[in-house]
Amino acid sequence: MILTLSLGLLVLVHSAWSTSPPGQILQTHPLLLKPSCNDSRVLSMAGFALEKINEDRKEGYIFRLNRVADVREHHQAGSGSVYYLTLDVVDTNCHVLSKKNWKDCEIGQFFESVYGQCKAIFYVNLPRRILDLPAYNCTIRPVSRRELATLCPDCPVYITNFSDPRIFQTVSESLEKINKETTVGKAFHLFKVTKVLTYWVRGPSYSVEFLVTESPCTKSLPKKCLPPPANAQPVGICKGSLSGDHIKKYVSGTCEFFQSQPTLAPESHPPEHQVPQQLASSTDAPPLEEPKGSVQLLPDPSVGKFEDFQEKRPIVTFPVHVSLTTEPLGEVLHLPSHYLLEKEELPIVLPFPEGLRSNECPGPAEYPNSLILPP
Ligand SMILES: *[C@@H]1O[C@H](CO)[C@@H](O)[C@H](O)[C@H]1NC(C)=O
Ligand SMILES: *[C@@H]1O[C@H](CO)[C@@H](O)[C@H](O)[C@H]1NC(C)=O
Ligand SMILES: *[C@@H]1O[C@H](CO)[C@@H](O)[C@H](O)[C@H]1NC(C)=O
Repeated sequence: MILTLSLGLLVLVHSAWSTSPPGQILQTHPLLLKPSCNDSRVLSMAGFALEKINEDRKEGYIFRLNRVADVREHHQAGSGSVYYLTLDVVDTNCHVLSKKNWKDCEIGQFFESVYGQCKAIFYVNLPRRILDLPAYNCTIRPVSRRELATLCPDCPVYITNFSDPRIFQTVSESLEKINKETTVGKAFHLFKVTKVLTYWVRGPSYSVEFLVTESPCTKSLPKKCLPPPANAQPVGICKGSLSGDHIKKYVSGTCEFFQSQPTLAPESHPPEHQVPQQLASSTDAPPLEEPKGSVQLLPDPSVGKFEDFQEKRPIVTFPVHVSLTTEPLGEVLHLPSHYLLEKEELPIVLPFPEGLRSNECPGPAEYPNSLILPP
C-alpha cells in the first residue's frame, strides 16, 4: 500500500516539476502549499489544533495562540488536507485540567508568563467532520529574568525549582486557611504544586498555585476528615501566598474547582451493582488514548548569568521537533478506525517541513511583546 502510494506520488512529483531545475525538488515538497499565516482558514485550523493540544495535555496551563509562525498545507485525495503548523503560544491562567477553551483563558501578567512554540500535524476533512491531531510537540520557557530585571526590578520572579522549604510552608499555611474556611463536609489536600513566584516583602515571599484533591469530613465538631484516597484525582486549583515576618504574617488562599469532577470514592458503588453501568460507560467513553505529544519546559537561559550584563543578549531558541515519518515521499497516516475512511481517502503524511518560512509568515501576533514571542 505504502509502496503504491509512494509510486503514485513520485509520478505526481515528477510531472509537477518536470520543467523546474532538479535542485529545487529536493528543497521543498511540491505538493505542499504555503498559505498565508494570516489567512482566516489557517487561523481557524490553528485554533482547532491548539484546542486539541490543550485537550491532550495532562499538566501545566492552557496555551493561548499568540500567532501562527509558519504553515504548510497538503491537499489529500478526497476532501481533506494535512496541515503542518508552527504556533507561537503563551500560557494562561487556566490549568489544563479545567478543560476550558483557550479562547476563554487570559494570559498571565508578563512577569509570570511562560511562552514558546508548538509544532503540530493536523488532519482536517470538513465534509467528513474530521479534525484530528495525530502529533504535536511544544517547547516553552519562562520570560527571561534578565530582561525583567532591567524592565521591572521589583516584579515577582517565576521559579521552576520548588525545593525551597518555604514554598512548602506557603502551600501548607494557605491550605490550612482554605480548609478552615471551608464549611462543606470535606477537606482539601495538596496534589501538586504547579506554579511558584517569588517576591520581596520584608524578606523573600512566595505566591504559589497547586492542585488539590478532596476527602470527606464529619460535619460534627471537632470535625474529622479522612485522608485522601490513594487514587484521588485533582478537583481544583488553589492560589496561596505567605508574607510577613514572625510579628505579623499574611496568609491568603482561594480555590477554583473544575467543572467536570472525576468520580471519587469507588466504595460507594458496590461492585456487583456496578457491572452493567460500567459496561455502558466503557462503550460511551472515548477509548483511553496514548498522548499525542509532549511539552518540554526549558529553563530561562539568563539564570545564573546575572554578572554578565555586558554580554550580548542571548538568542533564545525553542528547539521543537515533530515528525511521523522520515520517508521523503510520505507514508499513509494511521487514523482512528472510527473515522471510517475509504482506503484511497487515507491521508499521506510527509516529514515535517523545515527550512524557510512561508512568505506571509509569521502572522500578526495577538500580544506583540518581544518578551513573550519566540524569535
Ligand atoms: C533547588 O534549590 C535548592 C535550594 O533551594 C538547591 O539545593 C538545589 O540544588 C536546586 N536544584 C536545582 C535543580 O537547581
Ligand atoms: C516529540 O519530541 C520528543 C522529544 O522531546 C521525541 O522523542 C518525539 O519523537 C517527538 N514526537 C514526534 C511525534 O515526533
Ligand atoms: C490580517 O488579516 C486581517 C483581516 O483579514 C487584516 O485586517 C490585517 O491587516 C491582516 N494583518 C496582516 C499583518 O496582514
